[in-house]
Amino acid sequence: MGLHAFVHEHLPAAPARVLDVGCGRGDLARAMARAGHRVVAIDPDAPDGDLFRTTTLEEFADPDPFDAVVANLALHHVADLADAVDRIAALLRSRGRLIVNEHAVDRLDEPTARWYLDKRAQVRPDTSQSLQRCLREWSDDHADLHGYGAMRRELDRRFTEHLFTWTPYLYGELGGVATEAEEQALIDAGAIRAMTFRYVGERPAKEPT
Ligand SMILES: C[S@@+](CC[C@H](N)C(=O)[O-])C[C@H]1O[C@@H](n2cnc3c(N)ncnc32)[C@H](O)[C@@H]1O
Repeated sequence: MGLHAFVHEHLPAAPARVLDVGCGRGDLARAMARAGHRVVAIDPDAPDGDLFRTTTLEEFADPDPFDAVVANLALHHVADLADAVDRIAALLRSRGRLIVNEHAVDRLDEPTARWYLDKRAQVRPDTSQSLQRCLREWSDDHADLHGYGAMRRELDRRFTEHLFTWTPYLYGELGGVATEAEEQALIDAGAIRAMTFRYVGERPAKEPT
């Protein structure tokens, strides 16, 4: 399922009040607005337009609660993850929904890297790389980002899980030599690890103690 379909499936019925955190170029925010939702989309690099606010989650404030918060590939970037998840919970109404699509950069293991490198060699033989070097460079390149373990911990602290799925990602980086279905089948068989996940949580009616 595509990202927009996933988000729309889990949003409350329109017109819901929705906050898009880290909206980037704003495609998802515009699609949610077209579907009848009342969208506020924030990003330090937000585009121009009525839906958008050029600000960070840390600086953003709104007196009215949101029915849903959407965070697409944004949480792994924030400086203080615990604070960010607290802020999202505080911006939601009681029983409001958090809809997340995220990378899981801490999950690249040897079988997954080997599958990726073998596939990539088919499309870009010039980028051939040893497995150990690939793992080392991946780890170095993503050292300052939050991984799945940290995000899971913070989400569990604040939200009640409604849905969780591992989703394929690497096929999209492989120039057509792998399909989403092929990567999903390998993930489901336990042969490789998913590098992206989707999560829907609900802010409990009563604050956790
Ligand atoms: C990988 S991009 C994803 C953008 C968009 N959600 C998408 O998928 O097209 C991450 C975005 O998060 C934004 N971002 C990073 N830190 C943020 C923060 N503290 N508050 C709000 N947005 C943030 C970045 O500016 C960037 O646009």
